[in-house]
Amino acid sequence: MRVRLRPVLFAGMLLSALLITTAHLLAGGGRGPSLPKSGVQRGLAISPVPLDLRGKNRSLVAQGSYIVNAQGGCNGCHTNPPFAPGGDPYQGQPEQINTAHFLAGGQQFGPITSANITPDEMGRPAMMTLDEFMMTMRTGREHDDPDEILQVMPWPYLAKMTDRDLHAVYEYLRAIPHAEPGP
Ligand code: HEC
Repeated sequence: MRVRLRPVLFAGMLLSALLITTAHLLAGGGRGPSLPKSGVQRGLAISPVPLDLRGKNRSLVAQGSYIVNAQGGCNGCHTNPPFAPGGDPYQGQPEQINTAHFLAGGQQFGPITSANITPDEMGRPAMMTLDEFMMTMRTGREHDDPDEILQVMPWPYLAKMTDRDLHAVYEYLRAIPHAEPGP
């Protein structure tokens, strides 16, 4: 019996192409600048501290975690010290972030101290509303002291993020626990 292989192969190829496209669309490929599904999972997985997701947009928090923990390097300056004792990857040790003081500031850069950007008692990161946060990140100036320009903070680079990315960072900072600066 002659098996007609070609049409079967062709149908198979067509089906896989369709499945790949569908998977891509489901993963968020068609939804603009938000992270694909795997990025959301990665963002949530790499947060070194537990997150309070109540009343928050989960995928926005995840996107913010991805930016803060995989791209923005915020921990390196805003946690004092960035790594727990015995957990400093620069010393060849297995990484352990200093979760007790995560993003609570207090690192000294000459005369300048990094800010506490964890949420205050009202849940506002760095004691800022979203608008104030966006303005500071974009202009390097604080809303209550616009004459001062932040000198260490790499705001000229972070300022180039999209509105959604900056909002995501804010949403992530809203979800982390409040902490006090390390000694
Ligand atoms: C190179 C070190 C460094 C990095 C990286 C860094 N910051 Fe900062 N940041 C600082 C310092 C120091 C200050 C205090 C003000 C200054 O720079 O003069 C500050 C200030 C801030 C402020 C203003 C707080 C206030 O009360 O005025 C915010 C908000 C902030 N940082 C958020 C972030 C976020 C979010 C990231 C990561 C996406 C980040 N920073 C990365 C060093 C850094």
